[in-house]
Amino acid sequence: PPLKRVLTLQDMENVARDVLSYKASAYYSSAADDQTTHTENVRAFSRFFFHPRVLRPVSQCDPSTTILGCKSSLPIFISAAALAKLGHPLGEINITRGAGRTGVIQMVSTNASFSASDIAAARVSPTQPLFFQLYKKREDSEAEKLVKEVEALGYNAIFLTVDAIIAGRRDRDIKAPFVLEDQEKEVTKQQPSVEEPQDEGEDTLGTSGALVAANDVDMTWERTIPWLRSVTNLPIVVKGIQCVADAVLAAEAGVDGILISNHGGRQLEYSLPSIEVLYRLRMQRPDVFQRIEVHVDGGARRGTDILKALCLGATAVGIGRPFLYAQSAYGDAGVVKIVKILEREIVYGMQLLGASSVRDLVPEMVERINWQPE
Ligand code: FNR
Repeated sequence: PPLKRVLTLQDMENVARDVLSYKASAYYSSAADDQTTHTENVRAFSRFFFHPRVLRPVSQCDPSTTILGCKSSLPIFISAAALAKLGHPLGEINITRGAGRTGVIQMVSTNASFSASDIAAARVSPTQPLFFQLYKKREDSEAEKLVKEVEALGYNAIFLTVDAIIAGRRDRDIKAPFVLEDQEKEVTKQQPSVEEPQDEGEDTLGTSGALVAANDVDMTWERTIPWLRSVTNLPIVVKGIQCVADAVLAAEAGVDGILISNHGGRQLEYSLPSIEVLYRLRMQRPDVFQRIEVHVDGGARRGTDILKALCLGATAVGIGRPFLYAQSAYGDAGVVKIVKILEREIVYGMQLLGASSVRDLVPEMVERINWQPE
């Protein structure tokens, strides 16, 4: 269908389901076990309702913000996703171009189908910000080399993923006969991926076992964070915080931010929905929001979802799957479309909430209800 018929992120997902190969669809949409955390990531937003304020001037409504020192046209960013080429030959490059044209920031995966340098070269201007998502390999020296490389390429922050030390069990993916296209095979050979779905059965270590073995399963607050701090001057964000206690430890460890995330429900099944973790952090430890930037991802599909997270104190909200679907279906135009949809929804929501800037979004504007809407 023509792009103008796509009005919501759900519409985009529906279009993508029709164009994606079975295996790409299984890889992109899958989550751990029965997909409860993934489903609840989305559903949990519906437990939060607004207290909109009226008679406040909103004709000058500005949804822009600053994320880790980088300007962003909206309080969102594109969360890292591996293997974008599975859905479209230009893969991550589509996302880079779409992000550059709309002023939002892309987080590039360690396991992207293009190299960090090809992606940097695809920026629409040399000042377009990019974040880098790091899967730390067991060997410090190997990880250090990668971090220094992306810093030299002009990347603006490092997101250290800590919720995927071993590969999550994604049943739909394991069941799917997942055979990478020849070109993707080349890519994954060079960039072993914890994200690569397992298709070898539980009893064999095989390739997937070897891939997982390359990642550092023994990272610690005491060792890994100071190590990363010592090898880079870039802001550091810990991606994959799933409880209040670890958010507090991150603030104490001296990182610049956290990304509350359960990997889109792809790792530990029954990890709490991300927005619920954010809510608990706001209730129990409001001081953390003063000390570091707090970001969240998982299940955000509407402008109102993003506004709820901002009211609770998040600086920005990451969006994962919708950008994979969009670039698969429409290339970089699809990426632009997603940002435009979210911009319209965010501005509309801010105006009706009585907020003319993201600073006006405060905890008093949102309430968690204990009845479930029909
Ligand atoms: C991911 N995610 C992810 N995270 C990461 O740190 N490194 C990675 O390589 C990937 N790869 C990846 C592939 C695919 C297909 C998906 C769906 C997700 C997790 C991602 O960054 C993010 O946390 C979630 O996708 C956010 O949830 P939503 O917005 O997809 O619901």
